[in-house]
Amino acid sequence: MYVSVLALFLFACNSNAKKDNNNTTDDTTTASTDRTADANANPSYDPNRGEGKFTHVDISPNLDKEKAEAGEKIYNVKCSSCHKLTDEKLVGPGWKGVTKRQTAEWIMNFVTNTDDMINKDPKAQEMLEICMVRMPNQNLSDEDARNVYEFMRKNDGVK
Ligand code: HEC
Repeated sequence: MYVSVLALFLFACNSNAKKDNNNTTDDTTTASTDRTADANANPSYDPNRGEGKFTHVDISPNLDKEKAEAGEKIYNVKCSSCHKLTDEKLVGPGWKGVTKRQTAEWIMNFVTNTDDMINKDPKAQEMLEICMVRMPNQNLSDEDARNVYEFMRKNDGVK
């Protein structure tokens, strides 16, 4: 029993981010109306970019190995206690596929401006509801954030 409940929980936490864009259907009229209302209340908020200073992140098609290596070191020290590199949840969602679920801007804004993002961003809030832990601010510099993002790309197979 314990195992299956746990499995369900893991599944829920991981699958949420992928699903959240296209599950507004039939009888969720109320929910989607609410979302529209939210969007109108805060028209400057861009859910693909999140809240923060990064509006455009330059990314080359190939991996920047130096950045990825620096990012891996940060991951080992500051992130690995809560995030696995697979799609399995630990405290937070596993990082496999994270660069496909979220834009570079969203991730960089989230990791440098975590509190604001959790307060404002619908995806971060949904994750919070499912993971039940609020990700603490990790005090990353802009450069740290960019390096960690490159490491995430490496983890997602960019060479
Ligand atoms: C104490 C645990 C903890 C630590 C340490 C932590 N995180 Fe998180 N992280 C979470 C939780 C919990 C969530 C999801 C819930 C939320 O929105 O707060 C999350 C969500 C995320 C997401 C969104 C994931 C997705 O699937 O969309 C990213 C990106 C992220 N964290 C990056 C980082 C980075 C980078 C570090 C290290 C610098 C880090 N986290 C350290 C707990 C943690």
